[in-house]
Amino acid sequence: MKFNNSPIGIFDSGLGGLTVFKEIRKILPFEDLIYFGDTARVPYGNKSKETIIKYSSEILNFLTDKKIKIAIVACNTSSSLALDYLRKISPVPVFGVIEPGAQKAVEVSMNISGRKIIAVIGTSATVKSGAYSKTIKEKARLLCGIKKVETTNVSNIDFNENLKIIEKSCPLFVPLVEEGFLNEEITTNIIKYYLASVVKEEPACLVLGCTHYPILKDFIEKEIGENTEIIDSGVETARSVKNYLEEFGMLKSGTELGIETFFVSDDSERFKELGGKFIGRPIDNVYVVDFS
Ligand code: DGL
Repeated sequence: MKFNNSPIGIFDSGLGGLTVFKEIRKILPFEDLIYFGDTARVPYGNKSKETIIKYSSEILNFLTDKKIKIAIVACNTSSSLALDYLRKISPVPVFGVIEPGAQKAVEVSMNISGRKIIAVIGTSATVKSGAYSKTIKEKARLLCGIKKVETTNVSNIDFNENLKIIEKSCPLFVPLVEEGFLNEEITTNIIKYYLASVVKEEPACLVLGCTHYPILKDFIEKEIGENTEIIDSGVETARSVKNYLEEFGMLKSGTELGIETFFVSDDSERFKELGGKFIGRPIDNVYVVDFS
């Protein structure tokens, strides 16, 4: 295919999407990656749908001008509210982070007996959109249909009746991560505060439905307990992107490590400093873009 060696475009409201970038890089080492972080306009998590669609479309257009072969919306908020629109206007396939996370959550909960509880945490906008609940229900219906053909023991109706989805917004998690408050007591207390109602339900799994939350994974894991599997939407997205590129013969040829280019809409120094901590190595090649 003629676009195989074109880069993959990844974007987020800021630097949080680097958690997704890191997972993509881990399993697709030879792909060229272009990352866009909308650092001038972050956070998206408390903005309206119209604004999020407007910002996301501008970034998608910027990336498609760079001749990307696929676009990945690393931002959960943007994936929740803008994905349908982006897919309509995009000349290349667009991947969000909601579907892969939802799919994994259903797979995990199908493997436990009895009542199936799936918990999702995210920004206020993501939770308000109900995108995770909607997608989880769709995937459950679909997967149960398949399972029903494979075995007579699982009934579609039973599964959906026994499925409970809890969505909880944790708006202070993003600023805590952005301020580097990782080993502070206040962080543990805020995690306890937000997760109290979720922990009580003893869910089968907890979806980290925000780019920043994987940075808090160890703390969240401690709070939620070992009987709840933690699902990182970024990890699941990276897997499904890899499968897609393989299936459609779109992997880049060659075994040279891929080139990485970063664009931000403001303050590249902060992006370099904090972003380096997100991906665990220094970041170079950062350029500032002005959309105004
Ligand atoms: N990237 C956003 C998300 O995953 C979190 C930060 C923001 O609110 O913009 O939902």
